[in-house]
Amino acid sequence: MAVTLGTKDRRSLAKFLKLSTRGDHDGVDQMVMSSKPFASQENYAKFLTLQYLFHLSVAPLYHHEPLQAILPGLSTLSRLDAVEADLADLGLVPQIDADMVAKVDDVYEAIGWLYCSEGSNIGAAFLYKETQKLYFDKDHGARHLASPIEGRALHWRQFVAQLDALELTDEQSHRVLKGAVDAFDFYKTTLRRIF
Ligand code: HEM
Repeated sequence: MAVTLGTKDRRSLAKFLKLSTRGDHDGVDQMVMSSKPFASQENYAKFLTLQYLFHLSVAPLYHHEPLQAILPGLSTLSRLDAVEADLADLGLVPQIDADMVAKVDDVYEAIGWLYCSEGSNIGAAFLYKETQKLYFDKDHGARHLASPIEGRALHWRQFVAQLDALELTDEQSHRVLKGAVDAFDFYKTTLRRIF
């Protein structure tokens, strides 16, 4: 299904998503912190498995051709390789069932999942600092939480500009929102399964 790129000055999609998912985000933030992911290597291994399942689920969306056409550079943003390298650093091979990986078929919902995934890079600044307690860093064990070369703020602003350039109908924007809410829900459900 094609998604069109528009130049008209429309309401910001990114702002709509931010305002509409604030509660979903805060719920995830609280659940992550109360699972104490940095209290021990064992907990961090669980957190990495959670991150792996999330990034494994969104990876096909980063490589989806119609989405790449409207979000240039998208395929370079996936953090799945970095999570896999982190797992390897810790000598972990996650045992996962097929039903633990999300499958997103709707292209507009996919944009919402990507919003959730890219936005998680902002809070990752805090998480990255916490990994230092376990002596992990951008070269070992915490690669996927490290800042992008251009910096987190610029990286995010560029992605937001791409989202805001999409010309979507209200119905399509609500499908994007559904995708973002589903992504936060998936993260919470997976966290509960793992911790
Ligand atoms: C303890 C864990 C987390 C903390 C402390 C945290 C913290 C933050 C902070 C401080 C921001 C910036 C808010 C702003 O600019 O107003 C943010 C943004 C965001 N975070 Fe998190 N976060 C966490 C986990 C997550 C997770 C696990 C996800 C996704 C699964 C996520 C998705 C997002 C998204 C989508 C945004 C962008 C909001 C927007 O500006 O539209 N965060 N986070």
